[in-house]
Formats: sequence, C-alpha cells, structure tokens
Amino acid sequence: MIKKIYLEGFRNYNKVEISFNNKVNLLIGNNGQGKTNLLEALFFTGMLRSFRTIQLRELKSLEHQGFLIKTQINHQDWIENLEINYINNKRNLKIDEKSVYKSSEFIKRVKPVVFSPDDQVIIKGNSINRRRFIDFLISLLEPEYIVMLQHYSFALKSRNIILKNNELNIEMIKAYEPLLAESGAVINNYREKYCSILSKSINRILNQFYQQKEFTIKYKPLYKCFSKETLLERFELERERDFKRGFSSFGPQTDEFDFLLDNKLMRSFASNGQCRLIALCLKMSSVELLATQNDKDDIIVLVDDVTGDLDKSIKETFFSIMDYAGQVFFTFTEKPDEKYFKNGNIYNIRNGKIF
Ligand SMILES: Nc1ncnc2c1ncn2[C@@H]1O[C@H](COP(=O)(O)OP(=O)(O)O)[C@@H](O)[C@H]1O
Ligand SMILES: [Mg+2]
Repeated sequence: MIKKIYLEGFRNYNKVEISFNNKVNLLIGNNGQGKTNLLEALFFTGMLRSFRTIQLRELKSLEHQGFLIKTQINHQDWIENLEINYINNKRNLKIDEKSVYKSSEFIKRVKPVVFSPDDQVIIKGNSINRRRFIDFLISLLEPEYIVMLQHYSFALKSRNIILKNNELNIEMIKAYEPLLAESGAVINNYREKYCSILSKSINRILNQFYQQKEFTIKYKPLYKCFSKETLLERFELERERDFKRGFSSFGPQTDEFDFLLDNKLMRSFASNGQCRLIALCLKMSSVELLATQNDKDDIIVLVDDVTGDLDKSIKETFFSIMDYAGQVFFTFTEKPDEKYFKNGNIYNIRNGKIF
C-alpha cells in the first residue's frame, strides 16, 4: 500500500504530504479542488504515466519548473521509497535513494486500476481507446508485453520514416521488418488470449446482477498473423503499397477490438447506460485479474466520481471486488453515508491543500 505521498509542484499542489493508514480513503472536496489530481499522482507513482494525458508537462504546476513525487510503499514484508523528479522535461527516478534509469525497473511497485467517468470512451470512442485499455491491462499482467510494445513502436517509427522518403529503398524498409514481426507476433498472441480471458471474466461479473446478458470481446486485427513468419510474409506483400501510402498500413497499431453485448456491436448500438455498465465491468475485471497474481497490498484502486449513481445490486458486486485491493481511494463532493465508507479515512481537499 501507499503509506505516504509527498507532492511538490504537481498540478495544483504546491507542497503537500499525506499519510495513509487505512484501506478505504475518501477524498472529499468541491469541483476543481484537486481530487482527481491526487488520484493522478497516485497512479503516476505506479505506472509513470497519467490516466488523463500523454503530455507529462501538463502535470507540473504552472508555477513550477518541474514536479517531485515521493512515495513510501509498504509491501507485505518490506518498505520502498520511490522518487520521481521531473525537471526541464527530464525525468529522474530513484528507489531507496538509488537512481534507476529504466522505467520498466521502476513501474508496478503498486499496480493501479482507475475507475473514471471517462471510461465510457473505451466502449464508444475510436479504436485507439480500446487498444490503450487492452495494452495497459496486459502490461500490468505480463512483464514481457510492455517490452514488446516498446520494440514494436521503435521499429514502426523507423520503418515509417523510411516509407516517407521520396525514393523507394527496399533494403532499408525491410531492415525493420524482423523486429516488427517478432514483437508484433507476441503482441497479437497476447491480445487474442486476453480478449478471451476478459470476456469470460466480464460475463461472470455481469451475471451477478444481470442474467441473460452475453458480453464478448472479439479481437479484430486487419490480418490474422500470429507468427513471426506470417507477419514477415505480410510485410513483404504490403511493402510497395506501404511505400505509396507513406506509412505501415497494418499491425498492432491498427487493431480493432469489437465489444459485443448480446451480439450487438456496442460502439454502434449500445445505450449510454450499457456503455457505463460495461466500462465498469472492464475495470472490475482488471482488479480481479490482477488479484489472481499479486499480493493484495500491491493493488490500489482509484475511483473517481463513479459509485454515486450505481444500482444497489451493482454496488454490492462493486464493493465485493474492492476486497481484492489492498487500498482504495474514492473521490466525492460530499461524504457518502453508505455503510461501506463508514470506517474510511477522510481527506478534505480544498484548493490544493489537504485537511
Ligand atoms: N498543471 C497545473 N498547474 C496548476 N493547476 C492545475 C494544473 N492542472 C490542473 N490544475 C488545476 O487543478 C484543478 C482541477 O483539479 P482536479 O483534481 O481535476 O479537480 P477535482 O477536485 O474536481 O477532481 C483546477 O483548478 C485546475 O486549474
Ligand atoms: Mg475530478
């Protein structure tokens, strides 16, 4: 669990230190006071990225040159002190005072799952949102996956730069294809595997409050290539056409995932209520899947403005899934009076200050 967090120059926080000594934590304050910002900092500690933006410079306070996040993490049998110092667009990482240079060695000391009102874009938005969700989840569960994504993205950028050249240079385009094919095949296989795992898990959750609904995620790559060899063949086939287009036209970066509820494509046919429900299930499944292979203490759940308007039966399932996490943070504008929150610690947030 996160025992302590210190923020300096992060969003609307000037300097603030908060200790947590309870499983359930309620962050309470009016709109625009810093509740989501605090969740963002907690998430950042775990994953070195934000759930709201891909621009790191947005995270530093407008009045600071950079930001500093220090956290104390209490694992089951040991304690770690993490430090993220972002200054002049550069990030310095330390674990227990020692510099760490690779983000892959720093992340996942705590594993966060965030529930946000924006989660509906996973269902309704364009495919990039679905890829981002699936990639994030598999990265939490399979250490190899994030490395493969990095390899793939490096090779893709390089191949695309050459495809944009005015002259066709087959040898140079080809040079990146083995790396693309090798990492691409691993990515495709994991995506296929997790579509099936997620579908099952979501159905199980859904059936606790909704009988007779059938949810499926279908993996829809442009071409079904699950081996390095078939990918290499496809790259060769597309090479000259890719040159004419000026970019690589297929691969994991173009994959779609069809979310189907009772066999109907959700992004075209689902109601807002159904989207909200399935978005919630996606995140509940994420927590459940993480719990199958992690110490409870290392799983943290961040719930941003979500529980207020849920049906009673869904709430029951939701709170029972919160039991899989070591620590849960909820944001509210007013203290809720439900039983679940009764013994939670309260942090009042006003204008970047915590009382
Ligand atoms: N980089 C930044 N520097 C300073 N203030 C910021 C920055 N980013 C956001 N804010 C401020 O943070 C506040 C929003 O905080 P947020 O945590 O989203 O509010 P809420 O409590 O409603 O969740 C706004 O007042 C916004 O102006
Ligand atoms: Mg908010």
